[in-house]
Order: sequence, then C-alpha cells, then structure tokens
Amino acid sequence: ELVSAAEFVKSSTKTEDCPSDGLPEFALVGRSNVGKSSLLNSIVRRKRLALTSKKPGKTQCINHFRINDSWYLVDLPGYGYASAPQQLRTDWDKFTKDYFLKRQTLVSVFLLIDASIPPKKTDLQYACWLGQNQVPMTILFTKCDKRKKAKNGGKRPEENAEDFQNLIGEFFQTAPPWILTSSVTNQGRDEILLHMGQLRNY
Ligand code: GTP
Ligand code: MG
Repeated sequence: ELVSAAEFVKSSTKTEDCPSDGLPEFALVGRSNVGKSSLLNSIVRRKRLALTSKKPGKTQCINHFRINDSWYLVDLPGYGYASAPQQLRTDWDKFTKDYFLKRQTLVSVFLLIDASIPPKKTDLQYACWLGQNQVPMTILFTKCDKRKKAKNGGKRPEENAEDFQNLIGEFFQTAPPWILTSSVTNQGRDEILLHMGQLRNY
C-alpha cells in the first residue's frame, strides 16, 4: 500500500469532537519523546506533517491525519512526561484513555516503545492497561537505529524489544504483534503499512 495523500484534519481534546465520517483509524501512543510524531511522518513520507521536538510534551491534542481519503492516522500526546504541569498530564491521560475506550472507529492502537533503552515501568504499565481494557494493540519498537552502548545498558535494540515482550507476555492471552522501526532509516515503514492494511480489511 502506498500513501498518495496525507492531510491534517483536526485537533481535538474530546472523543466527541473527533471526525464523525466513520473512516477507520489507528492511533499512535507512547511515552513523551518516544517518537510518535516522527514515525507518523516516516509512514506518510512527509518531513513535517506532524510536529516533532527534542523536548517532550510537543503533541498536546488528539490529532487526526486523513490518509488516501480513506483512513486516519491519529497522533496523541505522550504519557510519563514528568516536567509537564500535573493538571495538563492528568488532562492528557484522561482524554486519551477516554478516546481508547469510546472511539468506535478505532481499529487498533499502536503502542510505541523505545528500543534504545531497557524496558521502563511506565511502558509496561501502559501496555497492561491497554490489555486489561481489551484495546487491540500492536507494539512498534522505535529508535532501532540507536546503537550506542553507553545509552542502552549494553543491549541492542532487538534485545531490549525481546525483554519488553517477555515482561508483558504474562498479561496477554495472545502476544500482541510487534514491528521494529526507525524514523531515521525508515525501518519498518512498509511492514507497518501492510499490517494496517490487513487490519482494515479484516
Ligand atoms: P511528544 O509529542 O512530546 O509526546 O513526543 P513524540 O513521541 O511525538 O516524539 P517526537 O516524534 O517529537 O520525537 C522526539 C525526539 O526523538 C526527536 O528529537 C526526534 O528526532 C527523535 N526521534 C524520533 N524517532 C527517532 C528514531 O527513530 N531514531 C532516532 N535516533 N531518533 C528519533
Ligand atoms: Mg508528538
């Protein structure tokens, strides 16, 4: 599947305000700074469709991007950003979780996990929350291009990804599908699009 058209449609902070045309959608979620907006740009082959930043807390709304006039990619605020004001973090957490539970056209959540570092508790907790609430989920391991030893505790991205899967394994009856990705090398891009296509036609 090729992305021939990608356009920003709207920003919402309530599930009720999201587009109502009934097109199927996929949401990117993950810790602040994990690379959600960058991966969205990689998938649609546009440098700056979704805004990215070195500083966490860049994306603050539910942002809908229409792809090929037939489905949506949704960029969300991250969780676990300790420096954001508490009220703001609570708001983000509330409206994203409300969105996961209520959005009828949400086909699947794509949970982004940074594979350049060992598994983090906040990520494990988030994966378990999605699992407990039966939100369909695919795991996208990000930053697989980063191989600096000092930064990732000596483990390669593939090993960190495996550790994460082993840790969440006991909370899922069937292990969620997963893909290794990088927005720098565009690793995983075709696989993600193929996977989204399969989920839409299911
Ligand atoms: P919030 O909107 O704040 O929640 O962050 P986000 O998850 O959307 O992250 P964003 O895409 O803004 O990227 C955060 C930082 O990580 C930026 O400095 C990106 O350049 C960098 N980054 C994102 N993806 C990758 C990747 O695959 N590899 C590397 N090396 N850096 C990446
Ligand atoms: Mg973002």
